[in-house]
Amino acid sequence: MSTLSIATAKEVFDLLRDDLAAIEQEFIRQSASEVDVITDIAQYLMAGGGKRIRPLLLLLSSKALGCTSHSRIRLGAVVEMLHTATLVHDDIIDEAELRRGRPSSNTTWGNAKCVLAGDWLYMQSFSTALEERNFRVLDLLISLTQQMVEGELLQMQKLGHLINEEEYFDLIFRKTAYLFSVSMQLGATISNASAEMESSLGEYGRNLGLAFQIVDDVLDLTAAENILGKPVASDLREGKATLAVIHALERGTGADREAIRTVLSERSFTTVTHAQILEILERHGSLAYAMDTACAYAEAARMSIADLPYSEAKRALLWVPGFVTSRDR
Ligand code: IPE
Ligand code: IPE
Ligand code: MG
Ligand code: MG
Repeated sequence: MSTLSIATAKEVFDLLRDDLAAIEQEFIRQSASEVDVITDIAQYLMAGGGKRIRPLLLLLSSKALGCTSHSRIRLGAVVEMLHTATLVHDDIIDEAELRRGRPSSNTTWGNAKCVLAGDWLYMQSFSTALEERNFRVLDLLISLTQQMVEGELLQMQKLGHLINEEEYFDLIFRKTAYLFSVSMQLGATISNASAEMESSLGEYGRNLGLAFQIVDDVLDLTAAENILGKPVASDLREGKATLAVIHALERGTGADREAIRTVLSERSFTTVTHAQILEILERHGSLAYAMDTACAYAEAARMSIADLPYSEAKRALLWVPGFVTSRDR
């Protein structure tokens, strides 16, 4: 078997099946509250599916470094619980009605209950992480939560405005890539890895997370709702300019720019349709540009782990970037 060959989805799933199942159990145990609505919301989201990519990264990072302790299961549940809390809050903020192919929790339980259930999940994930008795773990999770909240707030400040690429990358780093990076770093921390190794794995997570959010933003423009499982064309309706749109704004004709500006400021497709926007993006190669950028970050992720010794987990880590850039949901 060549050391450079990349794993398949089945191989990765076989490698992680038991651990992922244990993380599901841990998540269910940790999200049980005496107050039913909290348990109901957490388990409703859990049952809706989801790719579980953050715990998968944590598992691969720790496996690649030979860690076998229960910490990987506990922290795998922690990162998925944190992610779940951000989804509950994000759907309230974005007024989204669909998540994981089902009515979003805010639609089902209302905003007020969901804000509080999201807070509870955040705190429960910290309380679970505290069981590690490891300050490095808490340090990573606290910085992460602050970055994510700052990311969402910065995004709100920029709604309806024409942002540049630098601002876009700052936003997606905070709101998405940081958690990918921390998931990888946590795997390294519990494996007692060197600072250099933790930093390389964190860099892998950052590059992969940037690729992931760029693809999420392209899918928002191009995917079908029944496949994506969440609202489509929602970013423009929310006033968010994402990478392909920023590209078209910089290259488009006066009329193209005006059409995009109209959607962003009206926050609806009333005057200009979604199809018209897609035509503009196609004409300037903007969707291809965004996908090429995502693929470049995916490749950068692979390069970041060049020094990681060969293992099945490393093969899997080399597979994940291709999965992220070719996914349809
Ligand atoms: C959704 O994350 C939020 C983003 C960062 C785009 P995922 O696409 O990982 O959501 P699930 O967990 O698979 O539903
Ligand atoms: C993801 O951004 C941000 C967080 C999960 C905090 P989006 O708003 O694009 O995520 P989706 O598309 O709703 O999943
Ligand atoms: Mg959203
Ligand atoms: Mg999105």
